[in-house]
Amino acid sequence: MAEKQSQWWKESVVYQIYPRSFQDSNGDGIGDLNGIRSRLDYLARLGIDVIWLSPVYKSPNDDNGYDISDYQAIMDDFGTMDDFDALLSEAHAKNIKIVMDLVVNHTSDEHPWFIESRSSKNNPKRDFYIWRDAKPDGTPPTNWGSCFSGSAWEFDEKTNQYYLHFFSKKQPDLNWDNPKVRDAVFDMMSWWCDKGIDGFRMDVISMISKPDIYQDSPTHGGLYGDSSITCNGPRVHEYLREMRQRVLSKYNLMTVGETAGVNLEEAKKYANANGTELNMVFQFEHVDLDSGAGGKWSKNPMSLIALKSNLSKWQNGLDGVAWNSLFFCNHDQPRVVSRLGDNSPVSAKAIATMLHMMQGTPYIYQGEELGMTNCPFGAIENYRDIETLNAYRELTESKQREPEELLSCIAYKSRDNARTPMQWDNSPNAGFTSGTPWIMTNPNYKTINAAAQINNPDSVFSYYQKLIALRHESDWKNIIIYGHYDLLSPDDPDIFAYTRELDGRKLLIICNFTAKSRRYTIPEEIKWQNYKSVISNINNNTLARELNLNPWEADVWELI
Ligand code: NOJ
Repeated sequence: MAEKQSQWWKESVVYQIYPRSFQDSNGDGIGDLNGIRSRLDYLARLGIDVIWLSPVYKSPNDDNGYDISDYQAIMDDFGTMDDFDALLSEAHAKNIKIVMDLVVNHTSDEHPWFIESRSSKNNPKRDFYIWRDAKPDGTPPTNWGSCFSGSAWEFDEKTNQYYLHFFSKKQPDLNWDNPKVRDAVFDMMSWWCDKGIDGFRMDVISMISKPDIYQDSPTHGGLYGDSSITCNGPRVHEYLREMRQRVLSKYNLMTVGETAGVNLEEAKKYANANGTELNMVFQFEHVDLDSGAGGKWSKNPMSLIALKSNLSKWQNGLDGVAWNSLFFCNHDQPRVVSRLGDNSPVSAKAIATMLHMMQGTPYIYQGEELGMTNCPFGAIENYRDIETLNAYRELTESKQREPEELLSCIAYKSRDNARTPMQWDNSPNAGFTSGTPWIMTNPNYKTINAAAQINNPDSVFSYYQKLIALRHESDWKNIIIYGHYDLLSPDDPDIFAYTRELDGRKLLIICNFTAKSRRYTIPEEIKWQNYKSVISNINNNTLARELNLNPWEADVWELI
């Protein structure tokens, strides 16, 4: 049974592994569990505390493992349950915890539950999923669109009804209103917890409770109705409280909900400090700031003023009442150094400084610590991601977008940018595989790779190591983890500056978010008699009220 529930996750740094692209150990071009085992020393050297493992369960891979056909078995491409057990114990031996991806908004259509459910209307598992009749005119039950293009309903001839799938048609949504679904999910979660895993990242958990009334939703000029109507549904908090009571409270876990469509008020419920639901959530407002008329498939530059205002709202809004996740990168996002930065190592360090000095738990996505960039995929044939490929097909076939223009947005935003092989060294395929990688390797691996960085004190890797160490063992640790946040100069379009304060001690963080030199005057209300440099990406150790900041300069000071 549970040890005392501690809040170790507040003081941890999490590293996300997308196993398919991390390290291949058997030459089939696909990363695997034994590959991860072989890289644990690298992670220990970086200094992270927790691995979040994207799904490793049995899956037909329509959505790279986010379509699960057996929650208690390992995907063939990734290895065996013995490999998993070995990974868990070897990670624990190095003081690294493992948080599993929990994908329970939907299963694969190849999951035995769905196979039974679709077999007949009277099957005991029928109600594990969401089945509805066509509208009287024969069209799908509602106009809802899938997040991966097309209708969210798929017609099944066998029983003459439609099933709901907010992602691909191979990812039918589970019916959480059925108590037997909740029993089955909670039993499965307990099984993993009893194995000794350290927590869950919960995939689109804000979508598990469907609307009470099934009716058309606004199309916003697109072909289908808005699927965000399923976010933060009527019983989601009730179900998470039940999950807490029946499973999570019995173990000493870290839980983070992927909560599409969450706003501050909802986040305060999901991640409430009383601990009745989850420890923290991923919110997406800041990574949606460069969406535009074409939705996600737009190339609007991200305004720094908007970004500062948004992140500050979350920093201040959750302080003391909930807990933030700090992230820019994951397997669904393009590379931040290509998005906010200019692909340069110094910009990677500036972005990292800004994020890692905030209040919350930082997440590093594989390769971010090397400054890995977006990949020049070129033709649509080089992409592998179902979201990207479906969107390209739907938007070009319906003539809503011109292929070339859409392709340039895809180059900027596709999830595949994050999914290219991890760049280990300058040998063929970046040392990821001895075979043919399942997706192209970014050609810049010859210069951007781990081997070139781990022993170089000026590398992006070494800088991340320092940022992590500051949170773990420095004199500033508590200010960095728990300090109160205050934004400075909100209207400055180039400079991201803020303070952190705890028990009368104060840190000043200043980052120049441009590739040009900038003069910056520290606001009058900020006072100091003395100062100490905490970290600087250009080794600046002189503070003055009037600063001449270098391109992408980022400095952190303690004001004394
Ligand atoms: C969110 C995951 O992060 C994404 O990769 C996946 O495609 C969808 N949920 C569906 O599971």
